[in-house]
Amino acid sequence: MLLDRTGAGPHASCREKPRRTVRWILRDGTAADHARCERLMGPLRDPRTYGRFLAAMEVLHAVVLRAAARRLPDEAVSGLAADLDRIARDRADMASGAPEPRQVPHLHLSSEAAAMGALYVTEGARLGATVLRRQAVVALGTSPSWGGRFLAGGGGGARWKDLLDALERAVVTERDVAQAVDGARAAFGVFAWAMHPAEGV
Ligand code: HEM
Repeated sequence: MLLDRTGAGPHASCREKPRRTVRWILRDGTAADHARCERLMGPLRDPRTYGRFLAAMEVLHAVVLRAAARRLPDEAVSGLAADLDRIARDRADMASGAPEPRQVPHLHLSSEAAAMGALYVTEGARLGATVLRRQAVVALGTSPSWGGRFLAGGGGGARWKDLLDALERAVVTERDVAQAVDGARAAFGVFAWAMHPAEGV
């Protein structure tokens, strides 16, 4: 059974306590990792920072795609593959000159639940993209057809909702939850490494 969110309140007297959704467990379990990535990035206000952001996102998506594809069916990672393509095209538009990483970290996802945790990070990055898109449009003049394909998103809210539903199906036991959080934290670590290799994975 998953962790109980409230412990008390209207359901406290019930034998079945309300279930905390996997999404909120992942959100809490990775809050510090998210804050670290935000700190490493800073605002997207010049082509150099944007180029580094796109290069790091490309590493994250490529590494998660390769590792998650071993654990999940093709349809679960098709959105990730499409995002990887968008990021590569944005990088080509921007001709950012950001150096290619000489080596990329290996991501081991031990189970389906761990792979779903990593997918939560790549899908969730698209949520925050709303904020980043405004910064990139204002500072760099990106658009959905030039340099801003990834930040413009694709698939809309339906993809996020599908992911949340899939998380509930795949992450059930306490062990699954621990593995999903580990997978998500490792994925954040890949991004942090790609932004700043000294940060480690
Ligand atoms: C300066 C950089 C960033 C900013 C300002 C930012 C901002 C945000 C915001 C505002 C949300 C909430 C969106 C919503 O609820 O509608 C969000 C969610 C999220 N972001 Fe970021 N983000 C940044 C970087 C990143 C990066 C680099 C990653 C991944 C490597 C990431 C992963 C996520 C995830 C997984 C969520 C979903 C959290 C949840 O479950 O609600 N973010 N971000």
